[in-house]
Amino acid sequence: MLSREEKEEIEAAAAAFPVRQSVAIDALRIVQRYRGWVPDEAIDDLGELLEMSTAELDGVASFYNLIFRRPVGRHVILACDSVSCWLLGSDGLMEYISGRLGIASGQTTADGRFTLLPSVCLGACDRAPVMMIDDDLHTNLDAEKVDRILERYE
Ligand code: FES
Repeated sequence: MLSREEKEEIEAAAAAFPVRQSVAIDALRIVQRYRGWVPDEAIDDLGELLEMSTAELDGVASFYNLIFRRPVGRHVILACDSVSCWLLGSDGLMEYISGRLGIASGQTTADGRFTLLPSVCLGACDRAPVMMIDDDLHTNLDAEKVDRILERYE
């Protein structure tokens, strides 16, 4: 199922390493960039390409929380629920975002616009509470700020 472009990018990445398995995460990211997520069939093909079992690759994909193994919306919200954010109200904020979008954590809006996921620490604890939408970090959140931020994503 992998496209020629995906295979070429993965081969180019693998060429820099003596062991093909070294690029497992990069390969998963390449597939995700093209498809938005990583389907089972892609894991099978990657296994052949990288000389890894599907169980090994699935383990890598599951460990790395930015690899999506199910379809996601056009924008993925990662709401930090680690300790600094939790102390500063991330629970309430997650509830607020859920209510605003009409979905529970782990779900995607009916229009496919957003997927809402909990996340481990996003590395900006001094600016908690924090969320990421796609590649953008949003800090010092409150309900009003969340409203303004969500408007920016179509
Ligand atoms: S605990 Fe939320 S960014 Fe670190």
